[in-house]
Amino acid sequence: MKRGELHRMIRVDQAGEFGATRIYEGQLAVMGDRGPHSAEIRHMAEQEEGHRARFDELLAKRGVRPTALHPFWSAAGYALGAGTALLGPEAAMACTAAVEEEIDKHYSEQLDRLAETGTEPELAAMIAEFREDERAHRDAALANGAEKAPAYPLLSGAIRLGCKIAIKVSERV
Ligand SMILES: [Fe+2]
Ligand SMILES: [Fe+2]
Repeated sequence: MKRGELHRMIRVDQAGEFGATRIYEGQLAVMGDRGPHSAEIRHMAEQEEGHRARFDELLAKRGVRPTALHPFWSAAGYALGAGTALLGPEAAMACTAAVEEEIDKHYSEQLDRLAETGTEPELAAMIAEFREDERAHRDAALANGAEKAPAYPLLSGAIRLGCKIAIKVSERV
């Protein structure tokens, strides 16, 4: 795999994991510790912190330029988390289900690409490990009533579209 492609991969993943930590921070800021799903969200937030820390390390180790949109993803992630939490606990879960669905797809595409090129086995193992966590987050969100959120199809569709755009842009910018 060419250096440019590898760097884009690491850049977008670090941006995504950072964005995920901001989503959960936003949700917890609104819900506090007494929300019906606060413990669940705290657990997911801790895992996202771990993912982010490992991509931060990799970014530094490989000399990858971080996304220039860091401040924007910080604000957008936080606003998405806080905004959905304000709509209610089910909307917060719908947000997680939608985001993790897209991340699962994104990581699966990266794993296919890494397998195809037969390079970077360490990165592939890390992505495969994180993908399991993201799938567990999505499943937990669905089990906690994500689909009962008001206007679920619309909300979910909008969030998934936002994620797709964020992924495309963060690979390059
Ligand atoms: Fe993650
Ligand atoms: Fe996640």
